[in-house]
Amino acid sequence: MILTKERAEALHADKIFFEVNSKPPTDEKYGTVKIGHDFKPKEAVRIEERTGLYKFPYKPSIGGTKYSGLCSMGVMSYSWSPLPEPLKVGRYCSISSGIAFIDSFHPMTTVSTSLLSFATFNHLSRDLVTKDMVKASGWHVRNNKPWPTIGHDVWIGRDVTIALGVNIGTGSVIAAGSVVTKDVAPYSIVGGNPAKHIRQRFPEEIATGLLALEWWDYAPADLVAIGMHDPVAFAATLSECIKDGTIQPYRPTTWIIGKNDSVERMQGG
Ligand SMILES: CC(C)(COP(=O)(O)OP(=O)(O)OC[C@H]1O[C@@H](n2cnc3c(N)ncnc32)[C@H](O)[C@@H]1OP(=O)(O)O)[C@@H](O)C(=O)NCCC(=O)NCCS
Repeated sequence: MILTKERAEALHADKIFFEVNSKPPTDEKYGTVKIGHDFKPKEAVRIEERTGLYKFPYKPSIGGTKYSGLCSMGVMSYSWSPLPEPLKVGRYCSISSGIAFIDSFHPMTTVSTSLLSFATFNHLSRDLVTKDMVKASGWHVRNNKPWPTIGHDVWIGRDVTIALGVNIGTGSVIAAGSVVTKDVAPYSIVGGNPAKHIRQRFPEEIATGLLALEWWDYAPADLVAIGMHDPVAFAATLSECIKDGTIQPYRPTTWIIGKNDSVERMQGG
């Protein structure tokens, strides 16, 4: 997507910020992104209204793809850390600064884990290593693991490191400085290295009720009108409103930004 001034203004009007809290676009830039910049996502991203992207693109530590800086994100989610495009962030997530991913591997079954086993791209070894040698080593930069998934209403504290392939459950909290190596159960608070269960946010029946309600499918204004301080009262009221039809799921305005300057803005309602 080429960021034209018109697109920047439309994104800003939809509260899709290209730097958390960014001011309206000028003729030169939107957030830290220059007008005219060509984002080149390698896969389509889906960004809903009211989201805050980080101001710089994510760059893996070795041999991987440099990502575009765009990332799929649900309404009311924001990140103070760069995120890779394939990461999908649910709604109402708060992602702090210093998030890192264990995203780069050296081969571990070869004689040596060194560059000599796999690195055609590094000046220390590229005159010695051939593509056939890399193939024989079975090396894959991410050890063939998928990017993590992040549910809804997840709060990730600062300086957290996340392993590939983990699922971070809806409603969970990751304590500052943690290293997450396993799936995080919904509504659990985890912390430490490796991250272990600290406690549940809510008693089982409240967490189960909130998960069943899928409250994140309703408009932020409706949720605020119900009042979000007391989870029990909130669940009871929302459930009543859903039953009597006074509140219906909403469709946020969504931008789908794909390869080759394909940009689609789907008006919500
Ligand atoms: C996880 C967190 C929310 C817990 O807050 P809390 O409920 O007030 O926690 P407490 O201080 O009562 O600690 C509860 C337990 O968790 C442990 N704990 C707290 N923070 C921890 C951390 N960062 N890593 C590991 N364990 C941690 C405590 O040692 C304590 O363990 P114990 O029960 O064995 O004594 C908080 O510590 C945290 O990390 N918040 C993120 C802050 C942040 O990054 N802010 C910036 C972005 S907004």
